[in-house]
Amino acid sequence: MKISIVGGGYVGLVTGTCFAQLGHDVIIIEINAEKVRAINNGKPPIYEIGLETLLNQHAGKNLHASTGFDTIASADIVFICVGTPPKPDGSADLSYLESASSSIGTALKNNSSYCCVVVKSTVPPGTTEKIVRPCVLKTSGKTENEIGFAMNPEFLREGRAVEDFMHPDRIIIGSNDSRAGKQVALVYQGISAPVIDTGLSAAEMIKYTSNAFLATKISFSNEIGNICKHLGIDVYEVMKGVGYDPRIGSLFLNAGAGFGGSCFPKDVSALISLAKKAGENPVLLQSVLSVNEQQPHRMVALLEEKIGSISGKRIAVLGLAFKDNTDDIRDSCAIPVIRELLQNGAQISAYDPMAISNMQQIFPEIEYCPCAADALAGADGCLVMTEWPEFSRLDKEFDLMAHRIIIEGRRILACKGTDGICW
Ligand SMILES: NC(=O)c1ccc[n+]([C@@H]2O[C@H](COP(=O)([O-])OP(=O)(O)OC[C@H]3O[C@@H](n4cnc5c(N)ncnc54)[C@H](O)[C@@H]3O)[C@@H](O)[C@H]2O)c1
Repeated sequence: MKISIVGGGYVGLVTGTCFAQLGHDVIIIEINAEKVRAINNGKPPIYEIGLETLLNQHAGKNLHASTGFDTIASADIVFICVGTPPKPDGSADLSYLESASSSIGTALKNNSSYCCVVVKSTVPPGTTEKIVRPCVLKTSGKTENEIGFAMNPEFLREGRAVEDFMHPDRIIIGSNDSRAGKQVALVYQGISAPVIDTGLSAAEMIKYTSNAFLATKISFSNEIGNICKHLGIDVYEVMKGVGYDPRIGSLFLNAGAGFGGSCFPKDVSALISLAKKAGENPVLLQSVLSVNEQQPHRMVALLEEKIGSISGKRIAVLGLAFKDNTDDIRDSCAIPVIRELLQNGAQISAYDPMAISNMQQIFPEIEYCPCAADALAGADGCLVMTEWPEFSRLDKEFDLMAHRIIIEGRRILACKGTDGICW
């Protein structure tokens, strides 16, 4: 099939590259010309395991990137993968989606055959039906018989995105007309996963609900961990025992510095905003966010408990990405931690295998080191913020510290003599 992907970020680029791997002809339409150049040269502008190898196999062959929308005129299916960031009030900013819809509609004026427009971005229920559909139909001048609409939420995890895309738990296809739904199902031929057909708004709500539930599991584990810390109990022992219950499940029970990334915080905020607009008081969801917001401060408080005032002290921060195997720092827990350390007068030496250049844009003033050992040398304390597997091999590097005070925000170190944020 001829597929156009609008938005070549984490989701769009992985989606496009994986569809190319499935044998489709893919054009990625991206407004950022630098990203377009990189994609066409087979160099992903983001770090994602396995992506570069796949992109190299397909760039210039059955995958191309462009800043122009004109190629959409010959597409069988168009996926919208633009960002839906939070507005200051927590609700989803749909301006990129609106702009993309209008450009798609204008380009589809010249399409002579049926085309399906699919929203893959995470959007509030009602968005595909009430915003995307009327906008595309108006700007294209076409009818429902010529353009179909579907919503196909994405569940990939950054750091494991290619693997997740190729082996999903399920494929959700929301549509209000069966032709559009069938078109989406066709694109996924070759991927083995349960396909769940549902309505447009239900598909949109499934994505928010999944992310809100996962975020709830994390905040719940963190709250239990915070209690366990006072009681001298290892929360990881507790959650291991709890997770054997199939009604609960063993995943996403890792207590620590809290969740970050471009999805959980913004999607829970957007759901809270939706609930309030509907006249509900979403106390559980609000608590999920407030537990999460407190965890990074607990890291700094525990450090101060160990070393006293941190003013003038050298503090090593290991891990800047919001999780391992990604360079993404959006809403990373390392950000509030670094901010608080700076406010309290600390000197920071930071290390991350992939995310340094992204963090330099937020905190140009701190020292970035090429390896963990350099960050630790002479440090009065160390905070571990990301579960990078390479941190599990650190041990004698901590002997380079002026004082071996190590606070873990993620359970990743294998060496002795560390303090966990909530274990
Ligand atoms: N990142 C994830 O792990 C993840 C997982 C599932 C769902 N999502 C959802 O997918 C959507 C995209 O997320 P992302 O992380 O890929 O965002 P991103 O910011 O990495 O990528 C969005 C891209 O769209 C481009 N863009 C914006 N407006 C455009 C336009 N009019 N035409 C063409 N390109 C345009 C931007 O330049 C950017 O490169 C969001 O709604 C997000 O919530 C993200």
